[in-house]
Amino acid sequence: MIAKIAVIGSGFVGEELIKAFTAKGYDVRLASRDPQGENAQRLASQYDLMTLTLAEAIAWADLLTLAIPGSAVRETVSAIPDWQNKIVIDATNHFGGGSASEAAEFAHNARVVKALNTIGAELYSRPDFDGIKATMFYCGDHEDAKAQVQTLIETLGFEPLDVGPINNAELIAPLVRLWVTLSRTSLGREIAFKLLRRT
Ligand SMILES: NC(=O)c1ccc[n+]([C@@H]2O[C@H](COP(=O)([O-])OP(=O)(O)OC[C@H]3O[C@@H](n4cnc5c(N)ncnc54)[C@H](OP(=O)(O)O)[C@@H]3O)[C@@H](O)[C@H]2O)c1
Repeated sequence: MIAKIAVIGSGFVGEELIKAFTAKGYDVRLASRDPQGENAQRLASQYDLMTLTLAEAIAWADLLTLAIPGSAVRETVSAIPDWQNKIVIDATNHFGGGSASEAAEFAHNARVVKALNTIGAELYSRPDFDGIKATMFYCGDHEDAKAQVQTLIETLGFEPLDVGPINNAELIAPLVRLWVTLSRTSLGREIAFKLLRRT
């Protein structure tokens, strides 16, 4: 069972993840390149949490969430020789860059699940759209890790949708581009995808 979650990255997405996970009662800590830096310390005092290095966070957490620029993923995850079989949610997007499953490719001994990347981060805490749960797509190669991520997604209040193996992150990526494009129209950012299914 997931209890301890480390959020990697102290940017906008990192803060929204911290907000959403703490609201649901998870024990949350922040992993930063500079745990004593201004950004990390602001979040530490605002959300009453500890800040760690990435290596410390991997040792501590049940699950880590990657919230760093897509262009930094390869270098960041490769710098760790052993991810200790931890579950890693890859919430990153890399527009016009490397593959959508780079984290899974380069995080040695991690169980990576791509998720939480197809919606504006401010909506992690507000997945309910007038009584309808937004769909949260996720994919990965480790079924046990996916089962835990599915529970986490449900706990946040989304409807989880298993998109299959990690390579299918490439199928999710165009949805991200669509979301971003639509959000810049008059629709604004209060939008989400919903998969309809007749049973
Ligand atoms: N904007 C959205 O609504 C949204 C939604 C879903 C997913 N995403 C994706 O989530 C990821 C994070 O987005 P963001 O807007 O939070 O990104 P950001 O502000 O550009 O960076 C987030 C944090 O990543 C860390 N970081 C690690 N390596 C870095 C490097 N080489 N250069 C800069 N920062 C680095 C920094 O934290 P430390 O200094 O503490 O290490 C930084 O504050 C992106 O991949 C984005 O595409 C965005």
